[in-house]
Amino acid sequence: MSLNDCKLIELPKINDPRGNLTFIEPTVHIPFEIQRVYYLYDVPGGSERGGHAHKQLNQLIVAMSGSFDVLLDDGKDKVCYHLNRSYIGLYVCSMIWRELNNFSSGSVCMVLASNRYEEDDYYREYSEFMQVRWG
Ligand code: TYD
Repeated sequence: MSLNDCKLIELPKINDPRGNLTFIEPTVHIPFEIQRVYYLYDVPGGSERGGHAHKQLNQLIVAMSGSFDVLLDDGKDKVCYHLNRSYIGLYVCSMIWRELNNFSSGSVCMVLASNRYEEDDYYREYSEFMQVRWG
């Protein structure tokens, strides 16, 4: 899995004067089945989240409210995405190091995940991730 497989996905958006609506259907709008949803909220200013890679997990990251930055790193190249729309998701595949920061006040980061939580699926040490990724 490479950095090129990670991409912004524009989700369906039903514009409505009563309020807009977005929906996500697994395997239709995102390339995996959803086994888990989690979200970050009440993030203090200056806080950083992430700082790990996943062995198998695929994810879609959405700024449900506010904004934040997601830095993706395959160990050779890096790309930074600024998320600030609830109809845009960032697809992050396995074996990509990610760091989330620059959270705006009141922001909410929702993550759809392809598997349930398993600590064994994490690389939490960058050096270990690099070793496995590039030898
Ligand atoms: P972690 O994935 O490291 O958070 P982030 O990458 O957003 O900074 O998870 C933080 C803690 O929460 C860690 O102790 C594991 C726990 N956790 C769960 O129990 N279930 C989950 O689905 C997630 C995402 C985390």
